[in-house]
Amino acid sequence: MEVDMLEGRFQRASLFKDESKLSVFYVPESLPHRENELRQLLNTFKPIIDSPGIINRIVLITGPVGTGKTAVAKKAGMLLCDAAKRRGVNLNYVHINCRREKTNFLILLQLARSIIPSIPNRGYSPAELLNIIVESIKDKDASIILVLDEIDYVINTSGEELIYDLTRVNDEKLNGKQPLSIILISKNDNFQAMLDESILSLIPPLNIKFHPYTALQLESILEARVKEAFYPSTISPGVISLIADIASEWGDARYALELLWRAGKYAEEEGVFKIFPEHVRKARADTCPEISKEFILSLDRNDKLILLAITRSLTRSGAAYAPIGLIERVYRLICEEYSERPRSHTQIWERVRVLSRIGLITTRITGKGARGKSTIIGLEEIPAEVLEKELTGWLKNE
Ligand SMILES: Nc1ncnc2c1ncn2[C@@H]1O[C@H](COP(=O)(O)OP(=O)(O)OP(=O)(O)O)[C@@H](O)[C@H]1O
Ligand SMILES: [Mg+2]
Repeated sequence: MEVDMLEGRFQRASLFKDESKLSVFYVPESLPHRENELRQLLNTFKPIIDSPGIINRIVLITGPVGTGKTAVAKKAGMLLCDAAKRRGVNLNYVHINCRREKTNFLILLQLARSIIPSIPNRGYSPAELLNIIVESIKDKDASIILVLDEIDYVINTSGEELIYDLTRVNDEKLNGKQPLSIILISKNDNFQAMLDESILSLIPPLNIKFHPYTALQLESILEARVKEAFYPSTISPGVISLIADIASEWGDARYALELLWRAGKYAEEEGVFKIFPEHVRKARADTCPEISKEFILSLDRNDKLILLAITRSLTRSGAAYAPIGLIERVYRLICEEYSERPRSHTQIWERVRVLSRIGLITTRITGKGARGKSTIIGLEEIPAEVLEKELTGWLKNE
């Protein structure tokens, strides 16, 4: 009996030593192959610790998905804050994700909260928040490195105004003191081309470009992470290079880590204590680099329902594109299925436009003449079945 229980427990034990070390929120101790980019950032920001309030910096980081932009910025932030502390400089590193904080108000609120943690959630306009921020910077003699990560998400809406206001804070509201530095992070290598002339002139041409990782680079990144996340001898030979090979098509470290995590999960489900190449192949079939879990999870429930309507319309018809009319009908059925109140026609259109702008779906116009024209919707790179399966799972668990 006791033996059975022990064995039962033993079988349920995991090959993961610490799963959180594979999470996207974890910043690892070392970031192999990003030493130069990190050094460049540290050198750029060193003067703001040497001469706090005298000099500010604005830097743009660009590069494709999963190339370490967020991780390197965070690492630089930690190192700079440590150095500032040692010298008695009051430096705050504030990292804001503009995909999550979608409006100027939410972004400024986050920034204000990092200086005054007790600030209430509502009751202020963006302009008032900006003033509060400026006043408390003065009061506390604080310097700030503000990171606006995934800035693309607000750039076509109100982001330009925000960048404009923030870059002017130093000169206009703080009498020439320069305590606010900014790092903008974008996936778009051509980010500057999206900006208005008036903003462009405020941003110095300091652009640190991150390049996709090669298979060999991904291998060493994975090896370092394996030691942190798994018990010894739980990865069979060939697994790391197989994952690195698959992910090197995009040069995406996040995808590589997700494959590793999923492969580990499959091994765990089977009750084996080793990841084999077969687990990696299974993980690959179920994931797609274009859809990071975190990314879709961050959408609100209604957007997920619209996406589900799109994937269902595509899988049922087997076509590359589905007309928006059909999608809307499927969406209404899905809302019933999930007991949600469907949004209006106009609201659905609006969300479709947003989903298309952020690159999740593609829209096209077909037909000629005003009456013959209609919009069709497709998923350029994401297999509809994979996305449908993921969405169904997440919607059930919400
Ligand atoms: N050089 C590296 N060494 C170790 N881990 C890395 C490295 N580069 C990236 N990673 C890891 O890969 C994942 C993705 O990195 P990160 O989030 O920094 O990418 P990103 O460039 O910001 O991507 P996105 O544009 O999609 O936001 C993170 O879990 C990160 O810790
Ligand atoms: Mg990022």
